[in-house]
Amino acid sequence: DRPMRIALLGCGTVGGGVYEFVQERTDMEIAYVLSRRPRPDLNCPVTSDFSRIVSDPTVDTAIEVMGGRQPAYEYMCAALRAGKNVVTANKQLMSERYGELVQLARENHVALRCSAAVGGGIRWLTNLESTLDMEPVLRVSGIMNGTTNYILDTMTTSGLKFEDALRQAQALGYAEVDPTEDLNGADARRKLVISTNVAFGCVVQEPEVTTFGIAGVRACDIGAARKMHRVVKLMASARLLDSGDVACYLEPAMMPQGMHEAAVPENFNLISITGMHIGKQSFYGQGAGRFPTAYNVMQDCLDIRNGLTRFYTDKLRPARVDNSSIMRPYY
Ligand code: HSE
Repeated sequence: DRPMRIALLGCGTVGGGVYEFVQERTDMEIAYVLSRRPRPDLNCPVTSDFSRIVSDPTVDTAIEVMGGRQPAYEYMCAALRAGKNVVTANKQLMSERYGELVQLARENHVALRCSAAVGGGIRWLTNLESTLDMEPVLRVSGIMNGTTNYILDTMTTSGLKFEDALRQAQALGYAEVDPTEDLNGADARRKLVISTNVAFGCVVQEPEVTTFGIAGVRACDIGAARKMHRVVKLMASARLLDSGDVACYLEPAMMPQGMHEAAVPENFNLISITGMHIGKQSFYGQGAGRFPTAYNVMQDCLDIRNGLTRFYTDKLRPARVDNSSIMRPYY
């Protein structure tokens, strides 16, 4: 078996982790790194010319870890059209362009995988996929952003100030380039939209999702929660309604001590499925950071190497977000 030939589109925080992992393996090799600037530190061909990559028939898989909308979107589409599998960690594109990208992968009979886009290093989407092979999912919920969990946790447990906790999360490589996307819930909302679409075979749009970030959470709120034996967490939830629509929202919630969600520390995420027969099942791990995220990208590549040629679900139906119920359960 010849090694899987990978084009690594971007070699920053996550891409650098992927590069290191691949160097240790014999079943994969980096055919190209796409980089605008010279990278004498890398021991492989480096190019700034994407057309060279897409026209090279020996490249079977493109790993998109450059992030952002453009040119990542253009490159992903071109790679799929050229019959190359795509592994991406791009939450923004997978959320905003979900329907188009899934359709494009299907039309070209290639794999599109984005496990690292939700839950950092947790094999969340693949576990969700396995559940869907067995039974309908009724709800997905949990903590989907490492930066805000880190901030809330350090404010709760060590009384650190918001700004200092944010600085630490940034230094540890958890935060987005623009950390306001973590703080205002935009990042977690993208992950919730992707999870909702996979879980319910639908396509919902970001603006429909009721979203509150943690900017409004003050030290006194955390203190008040503690007096009630509760812990403030940024909780995401999507629930299938009888109508076929979904209730879908993201907001800080006071979780009772003793619930798994209340005990999630640092940059960890905890995401749960509620299935028709399994009840609630949770997946827990580091939700952000170079190596956990790169690990998930690598696992997607291994799945493709083992013969996987699809997205997590084939179903694509438009669905409405209906948050009209005043009940907002998280568990
Ligand atoms: N900024 C994101 C987080 C990175 O903090 O969870 C992982 O998606």
